[in-house]
Amino acid sequence: MQITPSILNADFADLGAEVARIPSADWIHVDVMDNHFVPNLTFGPAMVEALARTTSVPLDAHLMIENADREAPAYVEAGCASVTFHVEATRAPVRLAREIRAKGARASMALKPATPIEPYEDMLAELDMVLLMTVEPGFGGQKFLDLVLPKIRRARSLMDKHGVETWLQVDGGVSLETIERCAEAGADVFVAGSAVYSAADPDAMVNALRDKAVSAADA
Ligand code: DX5
Ligand code: ZN
Repeated sequence: MQITPSILNADFADLGAEVARIPSADWIHVDVMDNHFVPNLTFGPAMVEALARTTSVPLDAHLMIENADREAPAYVEAGCASVTFHVEATRAPVRLAREIRAKGARASMALKPATPIEPYEDMLAELDMVLLMTVEPGFGGQKFLDLVLPKIRRARSLMDKHGVETWLQVDGGVSLETIERCAEAGADVFVAGSAVYSAADPDAMVNALRDKAVSAADA
């Protein structure tokens, strides 16, 4: 059970300090947005590379960009240990996953809430992680979409069926209220943005979220 806080709602003028506030994080989730795939704009590889230099916590890049086939490898070069591309924005997901792995990072594929997992069953072994969005990508602070829960269960059973080690990440509206549902359904990596950065003690929130996920999965 891993918690990957998103810095999307942190103070962009002081990202190094914002990351230093959450030493208990398993990963730092960096949301890259290009104003085309999603209606919001954040930062690119130069900013990610600068952030990577400030922390020893590994970076988990979530690319919400149109030209993932061409752009994704730059995020491995920028120092990200995991790179997630959206299947809706990728022309050759198998080739891209192999390229990310060959460059030395974990390869991950994201699905928007309405994108089914079943067409990708046969490529699960090519992936180190699948990210199931539990909001429409683009903004932090949105309400968790319960309609994704059955897909989390189906994805987990496909992974079990194929005996793969692929992690199952959820992103969007994850909080103390919603994390148990995700863990019960089979998620094992949890992105939380506003839940962490709106907490009085963000690092304590990271640990509280992990504890809840662990006890829900054990139940
Ligand atoms: C949304 C991003 C998320 C976002 C999550 O498109 O991919 O990572 O930061 O924020 P919360 O946890 O506030 O929903
Ligand atoms: Zn994200």
